[in-house]
Amino acid sequence: MEIAIVVAADEKNGIGINNQLLCHLPNDLKYFKQLTTGYAILMGRKTYDSIGRPLPNRLNLVLSKSQNEIAGCETFSEMEAAINFAKEKGLEKLYIIGGDSVYKQGLALCDKVYLTRIHHRFLADAFFVALLPNDWKLQATETIGADEKNAYAHSFEVYQKM
Ligand SMILES: NC(=O)c1ccc[n+]([C@@H]2O[C@H](COP(=O)([O-])OP(=O)(O)OC[C@H]3O[C@@H](n4cnc5c(N)ncnc54)[C@H](OP(=O)(O)O)[C@@H]3O)[C@@H](O)[C@H]2O)c1
Repeated sequence: MEIAIVVAADEKNGIGINNQLLCHLPNDLKYFKQLTTGYAILMGRKTYDSIGRPLPNRLNLVLSKSQNEIAGCETFSEMEAAINFAKEKGLEKLYIIGGDSVYKQGLALCDKVYLTRIHHRFLADAFFVALLPNDWKLQATETIGADEKNAYAHSFEVYQKM
């Protein structure tokens, strides 16, 4: 099973504030949906709370030590158990979708990072880790300018672990 991270970060690697995303970027939500639909998504309990519902057409896996039942999701108190569950279900891909704490734990386990770089600097209290150029190769990048629906220019970057 392929394990990848999907994250949207600003120019200082900020990813969130007050348990919310930094901005509403419909283009990135569309990209996220295209990538993850049909596969497993693994998230921390705080990210689940911030989304507020299971995402449709995906196997929703939530990590928590404080909650063991969330309707429409599978909950796990260990990351390894969540990954094994997705493997046993026969899913080809698992996407780690945040937040801060789960990205930090997941980076060692994944080979790919889909990073949407938002070309702006926000006030943030949650951060993504910097990808070191010796460890991660930028495979593809596509930059899209701001428009009437998307207030910030952004780049869809794909990194492969070396
Ligand atoms: N920009 C993006 O792409 C993006 C994506 C996702 C999230 N975010 C942002 O990230 C922020 C949230 O990140 P966060 O680090 O505060 O929270 P988080 O990683 O979403 O959730 C943390 C919680 O997950 C559970 N957890 C984490 N690791 C675990 C493990 N190994 N085993 C069992 N449970 C585990 C614990 O839940 P319990 O306390 O219940 O035990 C922990 O308190 C928010 O601002 C959110 O908007 C941004």
